[in-house]
Amino acid sequence: MKKFFTLLLLCVCFLTPSHADEGMWLPSLIGERIKDMKRKGFKLSAEDIYSINKASMKDAVVQFGGGCTGEFVSGEGLLLTNHHCGYGSIQQLSSVEHDYLTDGFWAMSREQELPVPGLTVSLLVRMEDVTERINNGEKVSDIVKAAKTGEGYRASVEPMYYGNQYFLFVYQTYRDVRLVGAPPSSIGKFGGDTDNWIWPRHTGDFSIFRVYAGADNQPADYSKDNKPYQPKRHFAVSTKGVKEGDFTMIYGFPGNTQEYVTSDAVEYVAEVSDPMKIELRTQRLDIISAAQAEDVAVRIQYASKHASIANAWKKWQGEVMGLRRLKTVEKKQAYEREFAAWAASKPEYKTLLQDMSASYDKAKEAYYVRELFTESLGGIEALSLANTLVSMKDRLKGGTLYSDYVKTTHSRFMKNYSAAIDRKIAHAMLAEFLKRMPAEKIPAELTAAIEAKGGVAAYVDYLYDNTKITSDNFDSTALEGDPMAELATILMPMRREIAKVAYRNLSNIPDVEQWYRPYMRALREWDKERAFYPDANFTLRVAYGKVAGYEYADGEYHNPVTTIDGIIAKDDPNIYDYNIPQSLRDIYARKDYGRWASKIGDRESVAVCFLATNHTSGGNSGSPVINGKGELIGINFDRTWRSTMSDMEFDPTICRNISVDIRYVLFVIDRIGGASYLLDEMELK
Ligand code: ARG
Ligand code: ASP
Repeated sequence: MKKFFTLLLLCVCFLTPSHADEGMWLPSLIGERIKDMKRKGFKLSAEDIYSINKASMKDAVVQFGGGCTGEFVSGEGLLLTNHHCGYGSIQQLSSVEHDYLTDGFWAMSREQELPVPGLTVSLLVRMEDVTERINNGEKVSDIVKAAKTGEGYRASVEPMYYGNQYFLFVYQTYRDVRLVGAPPSSIGKFGGDTDNWIWPRHTGDFSIFRVYAGADNQPADYSKDNKPYQPKRHFAVSTKGVKEGDFTMIYGFPGNTQEYVTSDAVEYVAEVSDPMKIELRTQRLDIISAAQAEDVAVRIQYASKHASIANAWKKWQGEVMGLRRLKTVEKKQAYEREFAAWAASKPEYKTLLQDMSASYDKAKEAYYVRELFTESLGGIEALSLANTLVSMKDRLKGGTLYSDYVKTTHSRFMKNYSAAIDRKIAHAMLAEFLKRMPAEKIPAELTAAIEAKGGVAAYVDYLYDNTKITSDNFDSTALEGDPMAELATILMPMRREIAKVAYRNLSNIPDVEQWYRPYMRALREWDKERAFYPDANFTLRVAYGKVAGYEYADGEYHNPVTTIDGIIAKDDPNIYDYNIPQSLRDIYARKDYGRWASKIGDRESVAVCFLATNHTSGGNSGSPVINGKGELIGINFDRTWRSTMSDMEFDPTICRNISVDIRYVLFVIDRIGGASYLLDEMELK
């Protein structure tokens, strides 16, 4: 009997999510998790993670640019993030003479650090539960306004649990941010799209920036008189390394998860939306890849576009596979049946699931129309350019302002444009649009224009044979009567209609969203065992777990640590993604690792990347990976392919985040960049 109870207890423990590593927790409420964290190896307190009274870890974490995370590693504003997060900045600063993407960049003194126009980082000043204030009728706009009390302050009120709770976030944005260092892409993007979302991984995915401030350490426009920003807190860097089982914590800004959506939404994602998007992107990628294989110039021109199309494309494939393998739809259906049984006696929840399902039935089509429009016609570059120019015409009201706008937009566009690729993509995408779009949604004018030219193929050729919009010396006066501009105009009403369906994901489509608030509330009343955390929404979160491998396939275990030996094994001067710098080959040949050598298994090597069980999502790229003592052990940059469904269901047995080991970062700065002086301002432990 006793045995039975122990067994039962064991089972319950395994089933209780609070014992798994699922969850992205709000820093100000981390006190609720701290016991569990300590049990798993965290040595500090909740106040060390987030505090409004004293400097805490949150002061060392920033939102980097639009959608990444970064962390301070010195008292002088030195900031780490991913190479793929700094990529746009590095590209922006590069020219034919200075190709920092290919060759890397290392400022050898503060004077050599390069300002990045437009790049900002935001620090969280504080967060606050304002649910009661909102429920008492206070206006969001008033709350936001009252919170903006300092230089560069920005505030927003974000719903949690679908508006069952509201939090105010106050940020301070710094706008003088400079590039300090970046490895060559052959390290920072090693493995390219081939290895993306894949383990084993060997990417040195980091770049280094410095934040500058004006008088009193406050945000200021760029000025050579600005001083390095002095953060309230920065991370000490551990050089001791990690091993399987070690505690890990990730502090960053995950963007978008939907863990509580109903089976209808999951089914739509796994069976309709993702498959459609994958199929359309496969066609675009095939066209681009074929052109790239024929011409080196095109390969470079389209490298960044290919990477961004392929990134989500590959992620969705993993997601579909994962959701099907986990049977997420069936599991959610069963969960919903249990819920419905409980709700049957509760008048306020009784019809909730039916109502929601009915709303989905109604709303799904508009959602699909929007997704299809974006993935098909949105992939035609010349049409997107035409649309931008046409819609800006009204806004900028002609004149020199508009012609200047056209000039800069056009020349930026032309820099990386191939009309031959785009024409092929247009052929494919317009055909897909017509084939997949519900007939009554297709604008009649479009059908007429196509018929007038004798069919889709002839129409597309007509567009590309006659448009001037992609000729080198296009100017704003030529927009009138241009066939591409005409197509953009034909599509404008549809575009506007689509833009009305404001949504971030499948749970905040109009009509559906209203049901999620009571549903979420009901779930929390009903499912007492479940450890609820609010879905990611680009607000600061803490995830914790441990360094761990996983069973990739029957009998095939994936170790959680990779090394420089794996880089050398992949190294191939003839394969673009695997052609490492000669300096790295030389270091390897001499085994000249210096202080960065460590014993891995039974050999001397340099650690490169590691896996852990932290629940992360897009936006967590660049996040600090922290050990139990609060020291930096890595920079998060990816997940394994099989764990990408974690945005809808987290499976602790298989979901792993991928980080670059901080010792590899230091090794590259020191041995490849020759910038060891940067290490002097860090606190190495
Ligand atoms: N998969 C990672 C993320 O979602 C890294 C993407 C950048 N790397 C690449 N090869 N495209 O952002
Ligand atoms: N690579 C992602 C990012 O850029 C992280 C992820 O999706 O795991 O944020």
